[in-house]
Amino acid sequence: MSIFGLPLSVTARAGTNIALVKYWGKRDATLNLPATGSLSLTLANFGSETTVRFAPDAESPDGGDRITLDGTPAPPPFAERVSRFLDLIRHDARVGLPAEVATHNSVPTAAGLASSAAGFAALALAAARAAGMNLAPSELSALARRGSGSAARSIFGGFVEMAAGTQRNGSDACAQELLPAGAWDVRLVVAIASDGPKAIASSEAMELTAKTSPYYAGWVQAVPQDLVAARAAVLAQDLAGLGRVAERSAMRMHACAMAADPPILYWNAATLAAMDTVRRLRSAGTQAFFTIDAGPHVKVLCATRDAVLVEPALAATPGVLRTLVLAPGPGAEVVREERR
Ligand code: PMV
Repeated sequence: MSIFGLPLSVTARAGTNIALVKYWGKRDATLNLPATGSLSLTLANFGSETTVRFAPDAESPDGGDRITLDGTPAPPPFAERVSRFLDLIRHDARVGLPAEVATHNSVPTAAGLASSAAGFAALALAAARAAGMNLAPSELSALARRGSGSAARSIFGGFVEMAAGTQRNGSDACAQELLPAGAWDVRLVVAIASDGPKAIASSEAMELTAKTSPYYAGWVQAVPQDLVAARAAVLAQDLAGLGRVAERSAMRMHACAMAADPPILYWNAATLAAMDTVRRLRSAGTQAFFTIDAGPHVKVLCATRDAVLVEPALAATPGVLRTLVLAPGPGAEVVREERR
């Protein structure tokens, strides 16, 4: 803000995260409150960098915020989602100005992995700072959650647990760090299984699952035990223990979605083949465990030293287009602040 003359321009960076205990269902859609907790791993060099500046001259020709994505004007649905999120900050910080927002994604284009998690975590941090708000990490996490449920976790690095919370206003529905990025030498190997857009957006799919899947109640009821087991495995750095929970959490989430009406199926043939590769690796003695999000890609957790076995095995799997080897990374951070 312009308390000292020129408006403050803030650039923040955040890595995406992959859930090992999945979030799938909301207890409040307006505040974006999850029905259950979740647990994830934040990734390095795979996310968003966003610059925000609130100023009278930031107004776009149509009278709204000026929003760019990778250097060009953002598509309307993206820009509208960002502007709605900025309205929350304008309201809380009592700022009545338009914003200039420039977002750059380091998620490889067409990887089909572009996640809103990193985007809203970086946006929450940059916009809150640019609006003069000084928020604690847990408050930033609750704010990022309003943009996307998984974004609450990308405020923190390494292994992160998100609480469902019990407060009506969502103040305790925020994440916290369980184990920092450098503490445990693991990798996430991603098998890209398609270049197309996802079958159905996660918010819409969660709503349909909650409304129509007969398995939804069972899913919600089972997550707390998975969280207890996953948290203990992370703290003990027990890869097999964490991997077992991660696979069953992903399978239960997808089973629950498949039982919706109409059914939601994110997998393709390459998804099944990659799951089979992981099982074969394990039978041959390599500790590798998969998880799958709202798309066909298979993400495999393993020890860093085993990534040299896991990556070529997935790359050689029929239908797998490409692979990526990702490391744990830090939480959201401010990389630049200037008055202009
Ligand atoms: O944050 P959203 O609304 O995009 O939902 C994320 C849903 C999953 O990625 C499938 C699971 C998760 O916990 O990240």
